[in-house]
Amino acid sequence: MTTTSEEVLSAEDVRRQVPMRRAIDAVREVLLEVAAGSFVLPPRLALGDGRVLVMTAFHQPTGTAAVKALEVRLDRMPAIIGTVTWMGANGRIIADASAITTLRTGAIAGVATDALAPRDASVMTLFGAGAQAPDQVRAVHTVRPLTALTVFDRDRPRAEKLLSELEGELPGVHLRSAGDVTTALTDVEIVSCATSSSTPLFPADALPARVHVNAIGSFRPTMRELPDELLATADLVVVEQIEAATDEAGEIIHALETGTLTRHRIHELAGILETAPETTGRTVFKTVGIAAQDWAVARLLSKT
Ligand SMILES: NC(=O)c1ccc[n+]([C@@H]2O[C@H](COP(=O)([O-])OP(=O)(O)OC[C@H]3O[C@@H](n4cnc5c(N)ncnc54)[C@H](O)[C@@H]3O)[C@@H](O)[C@H]2O)c1
Repeated sequence: MTTTSEEVLSAEDVRRQVPMRRAIDAVREVLLEVAAGSFVLPPRLALGDGRVLVMTAFHQPTGTAAVKALEVRLDRMPAIIGTVTWMGANGRIIADASAITTLRTGAIAGVATDALAPRDASVMTLFGAGAQAPDQVRAVHTVRPLTALTVFDRDRPRAEKLLSELEGELPGVHLRSAGDVTTALTDVEIVSCATSSSTPLFPADALPARVHVNAIGSFRPTMRELPDELLATADLVVVEQIEAATDEAGEIIHALETGTLTRHRIHELAGILETAPETTGRTVFKTVGIAAQDWAVARLLSKT
């Protein structure tokens, strides 16, 4: 007979136990394991037009699993409420899902930025100043130490508030909010999009010729942050999993439908981690989030 334990972890517990650097390393490792076939990852169950989401990841080599159940309401703060349940050999952990979600979504953007952004990039613009925003900045700053950060939100006071909250974590970084898209994108080297937009946030020609763009916002066919022209002309379009992206990422679905993007031009992040191709133009990383990322952070909490 084995004994088991059960722990309940708040958002503060999760944040205290998992610094961004560890989350990035764990998510990177998990992407390679997903590519090697170590996980059973059923498609995300979405109910009520994406209002209720259930995601599961089963790691075959260890027999451990993570199950995340969320309610997403974009008209509420916080938009995401739910739990992640970790099931391991020695017990169960039930943890706050919003903290795990922002951490692992930041972490995968950190992995992609590290693989794709110019080595010396240090100037970032963030679209969206909501719940995901701080960890998007923390993740990029972890892999490409920033010298300047611009935040653009359609609700400018939210951008200002985010900047004042991040100020203490970013000493020496030039911080500003932008009132228009052109100003926001001038001389930028890394763009991160974390909005619930259903129309592209900027035209492709507002971007410099050499830039890396992360987009985390869309998870339904009707949502879109990136313009087709960017996907058509980027040197590399990278996603975490082609199946998830073609099912759920609005900009990928739209660009495939209009013929501006073809499936063979879409790469999976795991495939370029070991030897990222050299590029001198634009690169794009689009994520919708997969349960293996939640598993990766939950495993750090389980200390197994
Ligand atoms: N890829 C993933 O794994 C993943 C994980 C979590 C959340 N998300 C998605 O990311 C998006 C952002 O999540 P959140 O929790 O930060 O949401 P949120 O509602 O807390 O914040 C969104 C912010 O975007 C701003 N915004 C919306 N449309 C805009 C536009 N057109 N231009 C500029 N700003 C705009 C809003 O004013 C708001 O401040 C949501 O769509 C969410 O579902 C994706």
